[in-house]
Amino acid sequence: MRPQTVVFDAYGTLFDVTAAARRVAAEPGFADLAPVWPGLAEAWRRKQLEYTWLRRIMGAHADFASVTADALDWALEAQGIAPNAALRARLLAMYRALDPFPETAATLAALRARGLRLAILSNGTPDMLADAVDAAGLQGLFDAVISVEEVGAYKPDPAVYALVPARFGLRPGQVLFVSSNGWDIAGAARFGFTCAWVNRTGAPLDRLSHGPAHILRDLSALPDLI
Ligand code: LAC
Repeated sequence: MRPQTVVFDAYGTLFDVTAAARRVAAEPGFADLAPVWPGLAEAWRRKQLEYTWLRRIMGAHADFASVTADALDWALEAQGIAPNAALRARLLAMYRALDPFPETAATLAALRARGLRLAILSNGTPDMLADAVDAAGLQGLFDAVISVEEVGAYKPDPAVYALVPARFGLRPGQVLFVSSNGWDIAGAARFGFTCAWVNRTGAPLDRLSHGPAHILRDLSALPDLI
């Protein structure tokens, strides 16, 4: 295939969303988190996504920074962790400096070397995404970092995917969209993008109306796909 532009989801695809809880649990002041951080990370992510979908359906948009903080509060309480302002602040700060997956920078550089335009399309706010890109050392690799805040809606609303062809003057079929989120792939494929699902965990394929054209173990197989 020969797409013009490769568009990446951010959280879970380029950036490891479990890294905030994992890293904070290893800090001396927050040792209580050590036994529960995997459950906290899982509940935080699941609730964060639920809140995006529910707020979209309810017509009650709040940006991804608010939704992420609300989901963290829910997840901390669900894990039985007593209210702790310092812990909450540290986890939210670390969410702005998540580890990229190890193959990310080399893959992006290889794609750019092939003359492809690269972009991010994410639920994150412009601020959150700028922080994430900087912290991961990925500055200068993207032609555009597009936030859903431009339309005040969340994936998989088609209005979000429509930001990409509008920005680059492309047809949807000229875009390769890459995400680790199966539901995001379904929405993007329905919109008309060619999709590559990064299935790092060996998860089953989502049973939705649309699916990926390609399934990858991680990002490193992308340059060969193109
Ligand atoms: C994003 C979420 C879906 O980055 O991971 O848009």
